[in-house]
Amino acid sequence: MEYPAERQLFAIIMGDCGTGKTTTSRRFTSALSPEKYKILYLSDSKLMPRHFYKGMLEQFGCESKFYRSDAKRQLHREIEFMHGVHRLRPVVVEDEAHLLDREMLEEVRFLLNFKMDALARWPYSGIEKMHFARRPNPVRIGDILICYGVGTTKLLGYFEVVSDPYIWDSTSRWSWELEAKNLCPEYSESWVTFDITTSSIVASYDHVHPVTNVGGKTLGALQYGWDRIQLSDEFARHVIELIEGSVTSKKVNK
Ligand SMILES: Nc1ncnc2c1ncn2[C@@H]1O[C@H](COP(=O)(O)OP(=O)(O)OP(=O)(O)O)[C@@H](O)[C@H]1O
Ligand SMILES: [Mg+2]
Repeated sequence: MEYPAERQLFAIIMGDCGTGKTTTSRRFTSALSPEKYKILYLSDSKLMPRHFYKGMLEQFGCESKFYRSDAKRQLHREIEFMHGVHRLRPVVVEDEAHLLDREMLEEVRFLLNFKMDALARWPYSGIEKMHFARRPNPVRIGDILICYGVGTTKLLGYFEVVSDPYIWDSTSRWSWELEAKNLCPEYSESWVTFDITTSSIVASYDHVHPVTNVGGKTLGALQYGWDRIQLSDEFARHVIELIEGSVTSKKVNK
């Protein structure tokens, strides 16, 4: 079972009733490293599309949007982030898979498609593609982007912009793209194991200087629809120290 997980393949376990299929798959998933894989479970109750997206998004720590098409995009975006930025490979476990209908099978196929691009970039160059809903106007080459996961609010790492923004797919909701170099790949590889969130970085800040470059003391605007906030130099330095520091202390603990 490790073979298909490692290579992101589709595998089916078949056996008569009570021969140990469920037990085997549970034993297997509990042995997978959470730093390498994101395990998503599907169960009978998640076999309708709406419940499927809701159930999957809950496993990403996200609240699902009401409309199915929104929830679907939301899920795809989470998966893109997970794969593009954190290099986690999805492993979908479906017990009772014979009950899945065609549409749901297509979704599982989508989850597996990411091996085509993200994983093919190995060996890792450190250059990531970042996506924006609108043209990220003030962003210039050489700027530093500190990114977080919308669902978990955990920081994903910090990046130096190395290209101007361009439209990569005008039909996508996230139509703008730019390239950025990951300045701390060791953090991004294990971001999920660190507890650095958009609220903890503000809570641990001394507040001698403002948080944002327009004098704001919080990152509250992120909850009100802003997709990015320009930080003060002092606060940005504080956040980068937290990111770098967490990787260093992890090494010391080992
Ligand atoms: N390797 C094993 N050795 C001994 N008992 C086992 C082993 N694997 C599973 N069992 C036991 O066999 C029973 C059936 O296992 P399990 O539920 O995993 O089978 P299943 O193939 O998923 O069944 P179903 O087709 O009903 O879903 C359980 O009581 C389980 O504890
Ligand atoms: Mg079973």
